[in-house]
Amino acid sequence: MQKASSIELEFSRKYNRAHAQQYLHKHSESLARRLSHWRDEQIARESLKLAGEPKVVLDLPCGAGRFWSLLAEQQDRVILAADNSADMLNVAKAAQPQELVSRITTFQTSAFDIDLEDNSVDSIFCMRLLHHIKDTEHRLALLREFHRVSRDTLIVSLWIDGNFKAWRRKKLEARREARGHTGQNKNRFVVNRSDLEREFEKSGWKVVEYRDFIPGYAMWRTYTLRKEH
Ligand SMILES: C[S@@+](CC[C@H](N)C(=O)[O-])C[C@H]1O[C@@H](n2cnc3c(N)ncnc32)[C@H](O)[C@@H]1O
Repeated sequence: MQKASSIELEFSRKYNRAHAQQYLHKHSESLARRLSHWRDEQIARESLKLAGEPKVVLDLPCGAGRFWSLLAEQQDRVILAADNSADMLNVAKAAQPQELVSRITTFQTSAFDIDLEDNSVDSIFCMRLLHHIKDTEHRLALLREFHRVSRDTLIVSLWIDGNFKAWRRKKLEARREARGHTGQNKNRFVVNRSDLEREFEKSGWKVVEYRDFIPGYAMWRTYTLRKEH
């Protein structure tokens, strides 16, 4: 098995300064995107509640700090925020209100090799990273690293099958393949639900509950998981 600290995925390299700026504006650029962000926040709030309102939370990857104000709604919450991309962290710190930024400890790290001691946070809040991971082996490495660093829960969002959008995506991909496109540049992936839940179990996580973005239609699902000792 590949050593987790040596895992570096192709998609991670795209978050340079220009892309980070673009990502900052992405979730507010249209009504549809603003609605989608509103739903993401609603699900995140519910998931944090399911996790028991954790006191010490690691937002990883934090991207442009899209969830910082939500995480800070709990007055006494300690918030750590990390990302692989220094550009992303700089954009987040410049874009978010300074009062909020001063409450958050930020650092650059890979999610495969988190620069924290074992059991150092109550929860890891991991939005929109796992759908970039194609291989089971890499997902397991991530989940095991999260298991090392969190002492209690993990909140994780990704794309799953068993809904209309995943069915349509599969059909479109089959059509593209038939036309000779290899799909080599793909950097977002749909995971089979049963495979995923087996991976959770294998890496020491038990499903508390999940929330779907739009049940039966959308691919986004957010799981709240509890660590098994
Ligand atoms: C789609 S963005 C999601 C950001 C944020 N969670 C959100 O929902 O707005 C993906 C983020 O993952 C970061 N990233 C990519 N590879 C990573 C890795 N190996 N470890 C930590 N962060 C990574 C990127 O720099 C980027 O900020």
